[in-house]
Amino acid sequence: MPEPALTSDHPLSLSGALTLEATADGSFTLFSEDFGEWFHSRAGAYTEAYTTYVEATDLTQLAQAESLTLLDVCYGLGYNTAAALATVRQVNPRCNVHLVGLELDGRVPKQAVESGLVAPWWPEIQGILAQLADQGQVNQSLLYAELRLGDARQTVQALVDEGFQADVIFFDPFSPPHCPELWTVDFIRQVARCLGPQGKLVTYSCAAAVRAAFLDVGLHLGPIAAAGRRWPGTLAQWSPAGLNPLARQEQEHLQTRAAVPYRDPSLQDSADTIRHRRQQEQAQSSLVPTSQWRKRWLPSKG
Ligand SMILES: C[S@@+](CC[C@H](N)C(=O)[O-])C[C@H]1O[C@@H](n2cnc3c(N)ncnc32)[C@H](O)[C@@H]1O
Repeated sequence: MPEPALTSDHPLSLSGALTLEATADGSFTLFSEDFGEWFHSRAGAYTEAYTTYVEATDLTQLAQAESLTLLDVCYGLGYNTAAALATVRQVNPRCNVHLVGLELDGRVPKQAVESGLVAPWWPEIQGILAQLADQGQVNQSLLYAELRLGDARQTVQALVDEGFQADVIFFDPFSPPHCPELWTVDFIRQVARCLGPQGKLVTYSCAAAVRAAFLDVGLHLGPIAAAGRRWPGTLAQWSPAGLNPLARQEQEHLQTRAAVPYRDPSLQDSADTIRHRRQQEQAQSSLVPTSQWRKRWLPSKG
């Protein structure tokens, strides 16, 4: 919940190293030099995909339907997609899946396949990830999947124009301080337009700025257990039904300046510009300083 300070900007043309690292459950993740962050919780990359994304959206239940539409925002190594497809195939092999993944850096899904990071999944799932990384599309009798490369702020526009409506959205950008461009109220509004009326959007983040953005676009939200993280994640949907209530601490966090959302009205500003705009808005905000909230709820952090 506390936000790390960050000043550096990162390029949207990516060239930094992607370094391999084992996580505590034995699965591997990468470190991105461009974003200065790990792709997964180091408590377990596969565990995170299953717990934070598949379990939190109750995919086992949703997969009982005839068809399921999934949007994987920030496809990365494809772990969330793989965990979802494996779950659907296991609980209802006849479910017809339509999946779209959005990803900026085509090197990442390729490296996941080439380095054998996806080898623990069944051969069928590995084949799907390999074809998505290589050709960007899989068309089988019960699966139509696409991996759309580019800045998600732009690629999401095409989905909106196509009237894409997801039952489930996995929302997994790097953290808000490191990748503010994907946590703005403006981008989240476009993503929310792709969420069907009964759909569920899940993310590992509980940042007040992120939750405020979800609320701002009209979504209801509740906390979920986020695997390997100290804080809960967030489940967002159009209907409040079935959501766990926010704890008092979480509610009060939303009354502080931490809840000033990131903004990017043109959907093309740099990370630095977006961070700077938020700092200015926070300085002028009538919301209470977050230090008061921190003193009350996280006394050891002051
Ligand atoms: C935390 S990782 C996602 C991990 C992934 N869900 C997985 O299971 O492996 C964040 C991903 O967001 C991608 N990303 C960063 N900026 C982006 C942008 N503007 N548009 C689309 N994807 C972006 C990064 O390349 C990275 O793969």
